[in-house]
Amino acid sequence: MIEIRNLQKNFGEKHVLKNVNLKIEDGKVTCILGGSGCGKSTLIKCMIRLEDATSGQILVDGKDITKIDSEIKMAAVRRHFGYLFQEGALFDSMTVGENVAFGLKYLTDVPPSDYPKIIREKLALVGLKEDVAKLNPSELSGGMKKRVSLARVLAVNPKVILYDEPTTGLDPIMSDIISDLVLDLKAKLGVTSVVITHDMHSAFKIADYIAFLYEGQILLYGTPDEFRKTDNPYVKQFVSGSSHGPIQMKLMRE
Ligand SMILES: Nc1ncnc2c1ncn2[C@@H]1O[C@H](COP(=O)(O)OP(=O)(O)OP(=O)(O)O)[C@@H](O)[C@H]1O
Ligand SMILES: [Mg+2]
Repeated sequence: MIEIRNLQKNFGEKHVLKNVNLKIEDGKVTCILGGSGCGKSTLIKCMIRLEDATSGQILVDGKDITKIDSEIKMAAVRRHFGYLFQEGALFDSMTVGENVAFGLKYLTDVPPSDYPKIIREKLALVGLKEDVAKLNPSELSGGMKKRVSLARVLAVNPKVILYDEPTTGLDPIMSDIISDLVLDLKAKLGVTSVVITHDMHSAFKIADYIAFLYEGQILLYGTPDEFRKTDNPYVKQFVSGSSHGPIQMKLMRE
């Protein structure tokens, strides 16, 4: 469904993605792992042209979206994608309910009389009661904001969901509920998921495939079992979360 070929992304002199090759299989969960600042968010932003690739191809259903030059055509492609921003990105001037219904208004022809039912359903899916709909985002905890953002993504029934760290900031039980939700959406609706995560427990639970991004390339791609058994010292260090190994993280950026 999505195939990334020789993707490069530079920000000025900074070569963030050097040569990324990756296939996102239809109806499967692909987790993207990698150190802070290695370019994971940039990679999924390129998949829906929130960032433009410097070079390379991104094929969605066989069509190279980097070549699309009309905003209307690009909007039609984006219509099938849901994107859960790392920061949540709720609209502060709208209630939770209005936030959840936002995409319905702009992306679908669902009649407004159906919004309350959809708001209730999608909030319930992420473990929130319907009274939350009346609140403002400023009244929510970080974890609740994350779940409301996810409910907003789910409202428009996307075929592909790009999750940028969906469990960061959630307690272990809520993280597991979100992981189960990703699996549920796959089983019941055949949703394709791309999940950026630092949560190894979640990655091993939900992934059909894992891609490890390191120094601008996919260093290892495989099943969770292949990740558990790998001899690659970089991947082994990352998965075990050790500060000792070939990956030398810098606290200060050069
Ligand atoms: N719009 C931008 N302009 C300039 N540099 C950027 C921009 N977006 C990202 N970068 C840089 O690109 C690099 C990768 O950033 P990105 O957010 O993709 O990393 P990440 O892997 O998602 O990190 P994290 O795990 O901390 O979320 C960083 O060095 C960042 O400073
Ligand atoms: Mg990120």
